[in-house]
This record gives sequence, structure tokens and C-alpha cells, in this order.
Amino acid sequence: MAIPDSFLEELNARTDIVDLVSGYVSLTKKGNRYWGLCPFHSEKTPSFSVAPDRQMCYCFGCHKGGGPVNFIMELEGVGFVDAVSILAQRAGMPMPETKSEESSRKRRERLYELNKAAARYFYQNLMSPAGRKGMDYFRERGLSRKTIRNFGLGYSLGSWDALIKAMAELGYSKQELLDVGLVVKSEKGSIYDRFRGRVMFPIIDLRGNVIGFGGRVLDDSTPKYLNSPDTIIYNKSKNLFALNLAKKSKQERLILTEGYMDTIALHQAGFDCAIASLGTSLTSDHARMIAQRTQEVVLSYDSDKAGINAAQRAIQLLNKTGVRVKVLKVTGAKDPDEFIKKYGAAAFQKLIDGSENQMEFRILQVKNQYDLTQDDQRVACIQELAALIAHLPGSAEREVYGNRAAKDLEISPETMQREIQRSQRRQIAYEKKQQARKVLQPVQMNQPESRALRYDNMRSGKAEEGVIALLLNDPGLMVGAAGLAPEDFTVPLFGRVYQIIRERWAEDRPVSLNVLGPELTGEEMNHIASILQSPISQSNRDRAMEDYINIIHTQQLKGGDRSGLDDEALMAYRDRKGMEEQK
Ligand code: GTP
Ligand code: MN
Repeated sequence: MAIPDSFLEELNARTDIVDLVSGYVSLTKKGNRYWGLCPFHSEKTPSFSVAPDRQMCYCFGCHKGGGPVNFIMELEGVGFVDAVSILAQRAGMPMPETKSEESSRKRRERLYELNKAAARYFYQNLMSPAGRKGMDYFRERGLSRKTIRNFGLGYSLGSWDALIKAMAELGYSKQELLDVGLVVKSEKGSIYDRFRGRVMFPIIDLRGNVIGFGGRVLDDSTPKYLNSPDTIIYNKSKNLFALNLAKKSKQERLILTEGYMDTIALHQAGFDCAIASLGTSLTSDHARMIAQRTQEVVLSYDSDKAGINAAQRAIQLLNKTGVRVKVLKVTGAKDPDEFIKKYGAAAFQKLIDGSENQMEFRILQVKNQYDLTQDDQRVACIQELAALIAHLPGSAEREVYGNRAAKDLEISPETMQREIQRSQRRQIAYEKKQQARKVLQPVQMNQPESRALRYDNMRSGKAEEGVIALLLNDPGLMVGAAGLAPEDFTVPLFGRVYQIIRERWAEDRPVSLNVLGPELTGEEMNHIASILQSPISQSNRDRAMEDYINIIHTQQLKGGDRSGLDDEALMAYRDRKGMEEQK
């Protein structure tokens, strides 16, 4: 159940955090804060603080904190909704829906209905003589009737208004058709069907709602695929094709492909855990959705250059979530669909079983960047591989991949191992230096505990903290942030929070930790709570905002793409950066 956030606002307003926490912890007032023994870890001196003006609590010992809802979640060990209902009961609030939420829900539901009707209509076309071409196409690509039904595939007639007419008969308006992107408005203001003479792929969310469509031509004309635009019910970067089916799979992994047809072919061959991104590259939201559902993801991208690049990008994003990433090497076919047709499902299963872990993939990637017939390039390649392998935690792993790399580069295993050890020593020295610096720095300068929250660019990260802290105190400061986009943030969490604040500010809705609650993990909330602990001066806030934004933009220019740097250059770069930070 999604809780309307106006409800959360009211709940926030009706809950006195001091009163709430006092029910569990005995508090003493000091200044404008209250202090007590932390209920989340055992301690003898109070480091748990409650700030009534900010309606939040935070423990300086264990770094847990947040608004009233987070407090109850942590204390009672319950989920978000349960915590809200405990608080609601306490505040004497039944959990109703407000008028505006109700009407926006109804509007969305109406659009889901429209999309469902359209999907049904496309399906009926496909099954009728008028859809003969579409059916022939799917047949030719080897799709069974069962697969077609399972995915609800369809066909759009080669007409400018066949869909408009069919939906008008069911009572849907032009505006509604525009709202879901099924029609396009011409310059003259008339509307026409977006999808014409295409086989249709409905995109279905996790609750079973049809949220959009992809449509493919039957020949070689372009564009090959047309997709629904983003609408109020469809966001490409937050949905994955076939996840509604894959979530029911018994297989303990997800297979990520690039295309609709790859995913469908895999399902038909029994790999019902296949999914695809929707004509866009993978986003961090996608990566998070995947990591929430599985421990292992197998990348099965096309074997062309674009596919390899996309895989590398995906690996980086997925690595941040901690999910195990494997990369399939599809040889002898351009994509998984073709592979299965040529070699069969058993061969594909073999590919998965023997699939490269990302180490093998990365070794190959590094090697491909060098011309190994040139001596100097070979040396550089050996060093880069040594640095890569030196990062591996296990000595067995280092030996295995080291030997493998040695063989690939035609040098002796001993030489390779020596290079690896050298690189390792450098890395250890570097880490020691980092560690020493960490000890010297004040507590809040340290990297956040969680790997997912690491700051790649410390200067920018700190400025981003500043922006978020200012805005959470006073969303009105958003006026001064016109030039700051969510994509400018180097810490994805802050980018997300920024976007939420910005959207709410634009709609003139209040902002609080309670409202952020449903969007953040507990760990993320703790981190946001921790950055709110530094005092914020009441004057010069606009100026501070401006300075932070400047830092973010300057770092962005400086940062650029550092992937081309070798390890040593990277360390030198980091060292320089670190010194700047200490100044
Ligand atoms: P087939 O060529 O029919 O096998 O389709 P595919 O699913 O294998 O597609 P392909 O590998 O060519 O492209 C991967 C994905 O990128 C597709 O599934 C689409 O989501 C998207 N895509 C491909 N071509 C286009 C295009 O022309 N426009 C848009 N917007 N997206 C495209
Ligand atoms: Mn294909």
C-alpha cells in the first residue's frame, strides 16, 4: 500500500518527536536538544539526540537516525507501513486517502485501463486476418502461440486512426490517448495513431499494469522500434521489460538482455528469468531494482561493440549495488536470440554455467585496448592487468588470473606474479596513506560506512551534502538552484533526494524526512540524518547554496572521464585531490 505523502506530512505535524521518544528513552534537555541513552546500541553515556525543531533523532554513536517513522521502524523492527500505522494510531488518525491523491490515483487507473484495452485490441488484431502480416512475422522469428499469449504481443494496423476509433468506441478521449502516448499530435493539432503496421510489445509493471508499448517494424525500415514516451504512468528508467514475469521465476538469477526479442526468445527457451531494459541504457534505478530481487545477474548483451560498451557500463552500475555480475560471451551469434535459434537452449545453459565472471571479461577488455604486437604497449598492458588483478582479495584468485594473463600475454607466470605483487605493494601503501588521513580528519569528513554511499569525488560529495542539508532545512532555497540538475550530483543518493525535493517544491508541497522515508533504505536515511547534524547558519544561506553549486559544477568539469588513467596516475590524482581536501 502506498501511503499518500500528504498523510505523512500531517502525521509528522501531529507527532511530537520528544514525546514519542520519551516513551522509550528517558531524555534530558540541553540547549535546544534532548539527550538520552541510545535505544539502538548499548552505551553508558548518552549519545542519542532528539532535535524537536527538525523533528528528528540521531545517534552520534551508532549513526542511526531519522524522523518519527524511522525511529519506530528501527525500534519496533517493523516495515514502513506498519510504523506509519503505529504512529497514526497514536496520533488518532485513521489512514484515509486525500481527495487529490484519490483523484490522481483514479486518473492513473483510468490510463492503465486504456492501455490494457489497447493491448487487448492489438492482440485481437494479431489474431485476426487483418493482423496476418504481424502473425507471419512472429512465426518467422520462431515465436509460439503460447509465447505470444504469455507476453500479450499484438499488431497495430497500418492505419492513421484505427486505434483512435477503437478506443473512442470504448469511451476514451483524445486527451487520454495523448496522456498515454498512444497517439501523436500533428502540427495542425489533429491526432493520429503512433503505432502503425508494427508488431507490438506491451510493457507491464510489477503489479500487472500495462504502462507502455514498444512497436517493431516488419521489415528493414527505420526506426526499427518505436516506444511509448515517458508518461505519468511510464518511466523507462524505472521499469524493466518482462520483470513482471521474471519475478515469478524459480531460477536464482536474472538474465539481463538488451532487447525485447532476446528476452522473449529466452523465455520461450525456458529461461523465464530474462529481462531487458527498455530501449535505454541501464540506469542506477534499474540496477537497484535488480539487486533487490536477486543475488546474481547474468549480462547477456549483443556481441557487437555497442553491446560490449553497454555491458561495461552496466557492470559499473551493478557493481555499486553489490549484486554478483557475470558476463555471457555469446560467440557465433550476434545476440542471445540468434544464439538460441542456432545452438539451442542446452548450449545457452552451458554458456551461463561457464559464463565469465567479470574478471575474465575485464581482462579481455583491457587486452583489447592495446596493440600487443608493439613492445611498449605490451608492457603497459601487463601493468594495467597486474593492477587489476592485484585488487582481488584472494591469493588463489590472484594466482589463477595472473597465470591466465601471463599465458595470454606470453610472459612467464613468475614475471606476472612479480608485477602483481609490485602493484599490490603500491596499493597497500596508498591505502595506508588514506587511512592515516582518515584518522586525522574530523569525523564528518570520513567516507560513509556503506559502500553504496562512498563518495567518488569528496569535494563534490561534501558540497552535495551541503545542498541537501540546506534544502531540507528550507526548501525555498531551491530558487537559487535553478542551474543544478539531479544528474550533476556525484553521489546518486543525493541526486535522488534532490530530485524529490525539487519536484515537491515545484508543486508547493512540504518536504520532510517523513516524506523521503518511502524512497530511501534505512541506511540511506541514516546517512541523510547524519548530514543534518552539522549546524546551519541562519544567515548567508543563499550564498552558501551558491558556493556549493559552484563547487559541484567545477568538480564536474575537473572530474571528466578518468577511466583512461592507469593505476599510478589515478593514485597521483587521488593524492592531489586528497591534499586539496585537507587544505
Ligand atoms: P530484433 O532486431 O527484432 O531482434 O530486436 P532486438 O530486441 O534484438 O533489438 P536490438 O538488439 O536491435 O535493439 C535492442 C533494443 O534497443 C530494442 O529491443 C529496443 O528496445 C531498442 N531499439 C532498437 N532499435 C531502436 C530504435 O530504432 N529506436 C528506439 N527508440 N529504440 C530502439
Ligand atoms: Mn535481435
